[in-house]
Amino acid sequence: MSARTIAVLTSGGDAPGMNAAIRAVVRAGITSGLRVMGVRRGYNGLLSGDAFEMNLRSVSDIIHRGGTALYTARSPEFNTPEGVQRAADMCHKLGIDGVVVIGGDGSFRGARDLTGAGIPCIGIPGTIDNDIASSEYTIGFDTAMNTAVQMIDRLRDTTESHDRCSVVEVMGRRCGDLALQTGIAVGATTILVPEVPFDFQKDIIERMRFTQKTGKKHFIIIVAEGVGHVTELAEDIESQTGIESRATVLGHVQRGGSPTLRDRVVGSEMGYHAVELLSQGKSNRVIVVRNSKIIDLDITEALQAVRPFNIELYRIAHKISI
Ligand code: F6P
Repeated sequence: MSARTIAVLTSGGDAPGMNAAIRAVVRAGITSGLRVMGVRRGYNGLLSGDAFEMNLRSVSDIIHRGGTALYTARSPEFNTPEGVQRAADMCHKLGIDGVVVIGGDGSFRGARDLTGAGIPCIGIPGTIDNDIASSEYTIGFDTAMNTAVQMIDRLRDTTESHDRCSVVEVMGRRCGDLALQTGIAVGATTILVPEVPFDFQKDIIERMRFTQKTGKKHFIIIVAEGVGHVTELAEDIESQTGIESRATVLGHVQRGGSPTLRDRVVGSEMGYHAVELLSQGKSNRVIVVRNSKIIDLDITEALQAVRPFNIELYRIAHKISI
């Protein structure tokens, strides 16, 4: 049966572009004759019934804003069979017969479980980490990379003025995509990612010494969050090379800010497709980018996907940042 009342929620870490996806769900839903409810604070809002009916104007002036107009949360309470059942009961009580979940893998496991409890769900990948293996792209990644690049460009100014080495941690959880792309864009001497083991002497110290001999006086080392230890790395670099080193953790600044064009467009497209699927009576699907096209996959299969790290790009980065 196709859905008549759908709900939309954002779950897990927020990501710029989530608002574009919410807006698309609401507008596509209403113009297709559906009733659309907004659920606040992810699955917590489903458990407490914190939901409200949205209209075309509820999503005005949000496409350019970072964060999520529906707020978000990680919900340990929902992550139990009892929690899922209570959320499904609340959906029945509110008359919700389909849910669009915008979030990461954890949120998709919730969507799969809620579908299992009788409420059809569609997932939209929203996370700055780009760590959803089934999709080439996740909403928020482009904005986060651009924010990181802007911040590191600023760091470069002061790093250069002082002939220093900056060791910079970027987010990404266990995924090195954000570090890799950012590292290339800022011309990092070394990029450390969780997917590729590194040798401190060979990959950092020897590279710095080599480039120093060619006249280089300041250095940027990008470290993915999944590798960590930036303070210790900076101390070790300073003690082995004598080059003054500083550690910077960019942190949550990478999750905020106005979404880029790409995140607005991908968010809009994915939101639209999610509504189409629910209107067609489909459930337990996730919208993904594959071969640069937006398609949908079964959530359970998508959760098992494995995507290899872009080792070729990693090698290119190390060849040219010298
Ligand atoms: O998943 C997005 C992300 O920002 C990760 O990069 C990071 O590991 C995590 O969320 C931080 O989570 P929190 O906002 O709970 O500190």
